[in-house]
Amino acid sequence: MHHVADPRDVNRRSFCPMTPDTAISVSATRTCLCNADITALKQVLSNTPNARGLPNSAFTSDAFYDLERELLFTRTWFCIGFASDIPDPGDVAPVWFGDLSILLVRGDDEAVRVFHNICPHRGMRLVREPAKNKRVIACPYHCWTFDKTGKLLRRPHFMGPGDAEGLPHEADPPALKEIRSAIWGDAIMINIDGKAPDFAEHTRHLDAAAAPYGAVREGHNTDNIDYVIDANWKLIVENFIDSYHVKWVHKALEASTPMATYNHETIGNICVGRAPVAEARAGYGGNMPGWPGLSQEAAGTLTYLALFPNLLLVFSNDRMTCFHLMPDGPGRSRERIKFYMPHDALMPEFETERTECVESYRTLNDEDIWLVEELQQSRRSPAFDGGRFSPHWDRITHHFAKQVAEALLA
Ligand code: FES
Ligand SMILES: [Fe+2]
Repeated sequence: MHHVADPRDVNRRSFCPMTPDTAISVSATRTCLCNADITALKQVLSNTPNARGLPNSAFTSDAFYDLERELLFTRTWFCIGFASDIPDPGDVAPVWFGDLSILLVRGDDEAVRVFHNICPHRGMRLVREPAKNKRVIACPYHCWTFDKTGKLLRRPHFMGPGDAEGLPHEADPPALKEIRSAIWGDAIMINIDGKAPDFAEHTRHLDAAAAPYGAVREGHNTDNIDYVIDANWKLIVENFIDSYHVKWVHKALEASTPMATYNHETIGNICVGRAPVAEARAGYGGNMPGWPGLSQEAAGTLTYLALFPNLLLVFSNDRMTCFHLMPDGPGRSRERIKFYMPHDALMPEFETERTECVESYRTLNDEDIWLVEELQQSRRSPAFDGGRFSPHWDRITHHFAKQVAEALLA
């Protein structure tokens, strides 16, 4: 039976997304889109007044989810975690990406590297729990040992009992398989197939949207909130960029930032909304020191955006909030909200303001979670055909849906 979450349950359901044993494995069996899905996805690509939303199968079907992983997640830049999860040299953290185990490593050179978490000897999972101060990465099975750049250091007794060190002697010794990765702010992005456009190209529109807020990328991660949501990741993205519901669902937000004041922009791989905000909004922690050197216009504007596929960001005069979505099967998502603030806001006298900021987002998110879980349940009804888009409010949602359809039809 479907569980409609009581928002008060959220904290009890919170968990750490870096803990591998909480993940659900997903089959990587290759499947194809059925004809009905192809027809429905083509209809998503129509102009907004004539288009339909993504078909129900995009939210409920295991086969569609497998295709999404194969054709979408692995081919683009996908946010897998955060540099602040592995802050110090020697920190390692395993992350489940569907049924792939991925390893985040902070090297002695402070660089973040991302590897497939698989030993090249017999395929053992190398690291099962986050750990600190790792000098080397040693496989628990036969003790092959790698440095933090993935290079094989030793493989005890490889040539027999007398070969204590088993030092690599081949021209091309086995090594950990590194995954193409890059960092934006604190977010670690990976491109598993290695063929996505340059990272600078991927973040071009994001950079332009973030530029008015100056040093947001250097903000300090002050707080995190974790959720498990019984809804497909795409419903969470669509709800995040939907300002049409603010008037009826977020009454306190509507009072300070009315829905009618929002405007939207769709450009490349981002969907952006902007709204004018008073610098100090009562109840939103609005008296903290802001990002240095902002223009009056930037200080008075809240910008929220979805970077395709799984990173959602909100910029304002004194904070950056990042929503990281990790799909966990077609009907379940893990969401982590991370808060970033300017250095001056970390001082003890702003503790109340910081808490107010975090709690205001918790309240907003709690107002949304039951809705997206209801929408997930509705996607099981044959009476729903993807839905119609408002030419004004839903243009931004349609842009997101088109990116999904284009990736699947490519
Ligand atoms: S499987 Fe890793 S050392 Fe054998
Ligand atoms: Fe909402």
